[in-house]
Amino acid sequence: MKLTILGGGGFRVPLVYGALLTDRGEGRVTRVVLHDLDAGRLHAVTRVLAEQAAPVSDAPTVTATTDLDEALRGADFVFSAIRVGGLEGRADDERVALAQGVLGQETVGAGGIAYGLRTTPVAVDIARRVARLAPDAWVINFTNPAGLVTEAMSRHLGDRVIGICDSPVGLGRRIARVLGANPREAWIDYVGLNHLGWVRGLRVAGRDELPRLLADPDLLGSFEEGKLFGADWLQSLGAIPNEYLHYYYFNREAVRAYQQAEKTRGAFLRDQQARFYEEMRDPGAAALAAWDRTRAEREATYMAENRESAGAGERDADDLSGGYEKVALALMRAIARDERTTLILNVRNRTTLSVLDAEAVIEVPCLVDANGAHPVAVDPLPGHATGLVCAVKAVEREVLTAAESGSRTTAVKAFALHPLVDSVNVARRLVDGYTEAHPGLAYLK
Ligand code: G6P
Ligand code: MN
Repeated sequence: MKLTILGGGGFRVPLVYGALLTDRGEGRVTRVVLHDLDAGRLHAVTRVLAEQAAPVSDAPTVTATTDLDEALRGADFVFSAIRVGGLEGRADDERVALAQGVLGQETVGAGGIAYGLRTTPVAVDIARRVARLAPDAWVINFTNPAGLVTEAMSRHLGDRVIGICDSPVGLGRRIARVLGANPREAWIDYVGLNHLGWVRGLRVAGRDELPRLLADPDLLGSFEEGKLFGADWLQSLGAIPNEYLHYYYFNREAVRAYQQAEKTRGAFLRDQQARFYEEMRDPGAAALAAWDRTRAEREATYMAENRESAGAGERDADDLSGGYEKVALALMRAIARDERTTLILNVRNRTTLSVLDAEAVIEVPCLVDANGAHPVAVDPLPGHATGLVCAVKAVEREVLTAAESGSRTTAVKAFALHPLVDSVNVARRLVDGYTEAHPGLAYLK
């Protein structure tokens, strides 16, 4: 089986390859093709993968190419993990937004819109090529903002593109753990958009255990989301939000923390990864060790500003490895080998949330089998959550329209309608700032 990884020179590719190495089953991936625009990055990552594969017999072969069509031809699965504009672009997204006093996070608020505007045309081009060159392939989209990008691709690939994220899995796992439940035996009642969802229940043996957690401030204070949001707020909500909702519920504090930070997340990762790729130019460097050190530092500092502004302290050791490669592998196995399972995924809504249309990509538990991902029926969201979901989906739709039409006016509308952008004038200045910073937005006229 051939797996093509777009963004194959990306820093997290060894996580995926590491997960593939643990898969010994019949029908596993035997060929990995890495595609990237940057041959130097491909070379660096290939070195790490070679060290990972060294002690393993029958490891999947790895080839690298800068030719997209060649990479796609004959692929059974395509992982799309591109980063249009690189981490420099991510840092610019943050800088331009913070200068206007709004959030520049890569998936939430103004930063997510900017990143979505420059990624959509590229993702659509990829989707069209896949439809032409590998029409039977399944595309698993890792690229953020994952819900929006998956929806853009689904217009060309239908249900053959599925978006993934590890945040809901991590959240479900943490809640199960504090409740003393086995995550594998628990049903997580979660729904929303990517990075904008809520756990409303956790069922074990047919019984909802979440009320027990919500009633216990000590238990609530013992895990990441409890520390981030505070027990009182979680009790008021009667649900546990995805960690990314910290940017909404504590927006002012998050913006201030990011403004005061020595470096924004994007700038930190840009510099950190530049050092790693530079180090890989030395033929004598220990590639896997250097990669692993860099990865550990990245994971330890994830959402550090949010945690600091909330007084949440360090990350729990158990939370350090996100595990999105495990979600991707489980999804691929379920489809390729009909290993039926349930995963929280980004798929088209159909009739799941009645407030959204059928084509809107949402994040929801799905049954997965050889026929793809099938969203399960869920209870409606409460009004406050429905409001946010509808507002953000409307923004995503404006982003998709702007990317398709090239209309600057529509881009302004996307920013202006976002709940975390507080003035139309700010939206106009954001479009000015972003088009100045990003060559990838030159198409907006
Ligand atoms: C979480 C999110 C991902 C994000 C990742 C890394 O897993 O769900 O969408 O890509 O964190 O975040 P970072 O700030 O390290 O790039
Ligand atoms: Mn994510």
